[in-house]
Amino acid sequence: MSSDITATTAWRKLQDHHAAIAGRTLRELFAADPARGRELTLTAAELYIDYSKHRVTAETLDLLVELAEAAGVPQRRDAMFEGAHINTSENRAVGHVALRLPRDAAATIDGADAVAEVHEVLDRMGDFTDKLRSGEWRGATGERITTVVNIGIGGSDLGPDMVTRALRHYADAGISARFVSNIDPADLIAKLTGLDPARTLFIVASKTFSTLETLTNATAARRWLVAALGEDAVAKHFVAVSTNAERVEAFGIDTNHMFGFWDWVGGRYSVDSAIGLSVMAVIGRTRFDEFLAGMHSMDRHFATAPLAENAPVLLGLLGVWYSNFFGAQSRAVLPYSNDLARFPAYLQQLTMESNGKSVRADGTPVTTSTGEIFWGEPGTNGQHAFYQLLHQGTRLIPADFIGFARPTGDLPTIDGTGSMHDLLISNLLAQSEVLAFGKTADEIRAEGTDPAVVPHKVMPGNRPSTTIFAPMLTPGTIGQLIALYEHQVFVEGVIWGIDSFDQWGVELGKQQALALAPILTGTESVPHELDSSTGTLVDWYRSHR
Ligand code: F6P
Repeated sequence: MSSDITATTAWRKLQDHHAAIAGRTLRELFAADPARGRELTLTAAELYIDYSKHRVTAETLDLLVELAEAAGVPQRRDAMFEGAHINTSENRAVGHVALRLPRDAAATIDGADAVAEVHEVLDRMGDFTDKLRSGEWRGATGERITTVVNIGIGGSDLGPDMVTRALRHYADAGISARFVSNIDPADLIAKLTGLDPARTLFIVASKTFSTLETLTNATAARRWLVAALGEDAVAKHFVAVSTNAERVEAFGIDTNHMFGFWDWVGGRYSVDSAIGLSVMAVIGRTRFDEFLAGMHSMDRHFATAPLAENAPVLLGLLGVWYSNFFGAQSRAVLPYSNDLARFPAYLQQLTMESNGKSVRADGTPVTTSTGEIFWGEPGTNGQHAFYQLLHQGTRLIPADFIGFARPTGDLPTIDGTGSMHDLLISNLLAQSEVLAFGKTADEIRAEGTDPAVVPHKVMPGNRPSTTIFAPMLTPGTIGQLIALYEHQVFVEGVIWGIDSFDQWGVELGKQQALALAPILTGTESVPHELDSSTGTLVDWYRSHR
């Protein structure tokens, strides 16, 4: 039986404490402590994290740390780093932190030398991408490869797509990447548009090599290539990334052109494995090493910093604080960086596939809500779309602001005197300030506002946020950001007592889709076993297709 976190003294103390301080506003908390904005901050690797705009006191933070101790966060963390089978429902180790260990480190997973295995694959990836980038590896007709098309979905797509976009500035070998994931043919058709088969390399990325979307898209891409260049061209234009060599071979890809990883790497934790091959092709192995080093530096922080100064621990605990004590349902992720446009989508899989669970690790029901809903868009675009609800809506939505001190490129403002990047960051700071401190009716009246309009202009404030600043969007800092969120998810999962590393909830829908496909296109009458809604929808589709 998993222990029930809500039955612990630490939880009850937090409930009492919440009742006592929930009414205190951020205005009051800042007025009471002028140093708050300097003190409630920390530096983790290169990230400067300000958590002062949270509805917490020193006592709240102490009690949250007590909760982490009661839940056994340090022990679970250590067990993960030691390669224990903490993914209990699949009886697997959780080893993504071993993917970014330096060559001279030691880690054993399931009796094998994980560091040696990881670096053997990294070396093969490096040799391959060096050849691709230098033009030594050419297509079947002797042309250089200029586009890699990654075909994968979920963790085999979101991570490399997000990172490649984030690091577009580091693309230095004339190779760009496209990403095909959806079984909607529109995706592949659109991504193949304008491509020259002779200059295109497909990376079929699938941990299991059994995912319907990926195999369907890969088969269609293969037909497209063969139609243009013939069957013999496949060997020069298709490589695979997978844990399943047999299926790769059965698909017709030479396993010499396969880059492997292991069942102890979860799909949503795999961008730093061979799943990152497309990233390495675009930015090169040196930059990819910097990306891994960035992740590793956050791992070290997570493994060694005291809980009260540990960024992933604190941010995970704050997630629990709002979810379980304030009843918040979601967290907005607001990168003030257009190049991080896919970061919220990436985080959705990382966080929601990990912590969207209603039973604990031992199969008993959870006793509190789990799984924050992550969503967001880059600033400033979001400001002109959904921030109205963040500012004046009835829901409490904690937000994560992410910004960079230096841009990867900049342009002057309208009058030519300032920098667009500085304007971007002033927007970030303005939004977090207004969310926290708002504007009262008295302040609005004092400006001579029409009394009828005053209530509409009141900005309630007291809306919490974290600000995460990094010097610049680099391979290292994107690695640090990813690891920061990976470990927050871990901390929340441990508190809730769930297995953050399985995803059984996605399976039934896949089976049903396979069962429905022949019915959709069949001519026999719709089977009676179908519920009346699905049956009628099938009829409608059949008569309109
Ligand atoms: O269906 C969910 C899922 O299993 C994800 O966890 C995973 O990232 C994705 O599908 C793709 O799986 P694969 O890499 O095996 O194709």
